[in-house]
Amino acid sequence: MPSLRQFTPEAAWQAPEGEPIIRIENVSKRFGELYAVDDISLDIHSGEFFSLLGPSGCGKTTLLRMLAGFEMPTEGKIYIDGQDITQVPPYERPVNMMFQSYALFPHMSVADNIAFGLKQEGMPKAQRQERVREMLSLVQIDKLAARKPHQLSGGQRQRVALARALAKHPKILLLDEPLGALDKKLREQTQFELVNIQERLGITFIIVTHDQEEAMTMSSRIALLRDGRVEQVDPPHRLYEYPNSRYAADFIGSINLIDGYVISQEDNRVQIRSEDAGCDLEVIHSQPLIAGTQVTLAVRPEKVRLQTEGNAIANRLTGVIKEIAYLGDVSIYHVELPTGKRIQFTQSNIQALAEQPLSWEDEVVLGWPANSCGVLTQ
Ligand SMILES: Nc1ncnc2c1ncn2[C@@H]1O[C@H](COP(=O)(O)OP(=O)(O)OP(=O)(O)O)[C@@H](O)[C@H]1O
Ligand SMILES: [Mg+2]
Repeated sequence: MPSLRQFTPEAAWQAPEGEPIIRIENVSKRFGELYAVDDISLDIHSGEFFSLLGPSGCGKTTLLRMLAGFEMPTEGKIYIDGQDITQVPPYERPVNMMFQSYALFPHMSVADNIAFGLKQEGMPKAQRQERVREMLSLVQIDKLAARKPHQLSGGQRQRVALARALAKHPKILLLDEPLGALDKKLREQTQFELVNIQERLGITFIIVTHDQEEAMTMSSRIALLRDGRVEQVDPPHRLYEYPNSRYAADFIGSINLIDGYVISQEDNRVQIRSEDAGCDLEVIHSQPLIAGTQVTLAVRPEKVRLQTEGNAIANRLTGVIKEIAYLGDVSIYHVELPTGKRIQFTQSNIQALAEQPLSWEDEVVLGWPANSCGVLTQ
C-alpha cells in the first residue's frame, strides 16, 4: 500500500526517553453502563500525524473530544507537554479541533469564518487580516474569501474549516473525519495536501478516520481501536506486515486467515495442521508456541504466488479459480481448495499479460514461503 510520506518520524516513537507532547494515561469514559473509551493509554510525540482508526462506535470521537476538553474522562489523566490538563477547559488548551461536521458560521464570509477565533482572542485587526491571508493561501482558496459557506462546494467548505482550525497556530490539531464528506478523487488529493500542510507547519495532527486506506497513506502511526480499547499501535507498515490479532489483520487491507493448531516448533519454524487448508503449513514465528495451540495463519493476497511444478516451497496448495475481479492495475483471484476454503491472491496485470492468462475453473497451484506469512494467537 502506498504511503504519502517519504519518511516517518520513527525516531519519535522509537525513543522512549523523548517526552511525548500528549500522554493519555488509563483514560476511560463511561456513558451510563457503556464504556465508550475503556482504559486507553497512549503517548503521542511532537510532529506526529497520528490516526485513531476503527469501526463506527468504537470511541474515536469520544477520545478526541476528551483531548480537546469537551468531554471529561470518567477515569485517568491527560497530559500535554508534561502538564496534567485533565481539568483544564478547552479554550486554555494548546489544541484546536476540526469537527466531523465542519460547523461553519453560515452568515459569515469565508474570511470572517477563519478570523473568528482570532478576533475572540483579541488579535489586532492588521495582524488578523495578515493571518487570514496566510491561511487562505495555505489551503489554496484565496479567491473565495468573500463568499458565504452556502456558495462553496463540499471540498471548499472543508478547506475553510481546516483554515479556521489552523488559524490560531495550535500546537495540536484534532481532526474528526475531516475528509468524510469528499468524493474519492478529492479525498486522495486532499490527503496529499493535509500531509504537506502538516509537514510545513510542524503541528502535531491527530486525525480520526474509519477508512484504513486513508490512515495508511497519511499517518506516522495508527492506533487501531476496538470497543473503546486500543488493539494495536504501530506505524502503517508494521500494522500491515505484523498485525498482532485477527481483528487487526482483518481490518487493515485484505488477508487470508487459515485456522489450525500447532503441531511442532523447531527453532522458529512452526508446523501447523490445518483442516481449513487440508494440509500442514509452515510459518516462521519467534515466540514459543505450545503444541496443540489453536492459531490462525495470516497471509496477504499479494504474498501468494502461482507455483510452477517442481519448486519446493513450504506452503503449497492446489485449488480451482472461482472468481476473478479485474481492478485495472491488478486482478484478484479467489481460489477454492478441495476443503471448500477460499484463498485470495493478486497479480499485477502487467505480469499477467506476460504469462498464460488465467480463467475461471482453471486448476492452479498456489504457494508462499514460511517467512511471508504470520501466525496469530488471538
Ligand atoms: N453523549 C453520549 N451519550 C451516550 N452515549 C454516547 C455519547 N457519545 C457517544 N456515545 C456512545 O459511545 C460510543 C462511542 O461513540 P463515538 O462517537 O466515540 O464513536 P466513533 O468511533 O466516533 O464512531 P463514528 O465512526 O460512527 O463517528 C457509541 O456507542 C456511542 O453511542
Ligand atoms: Mg465519530
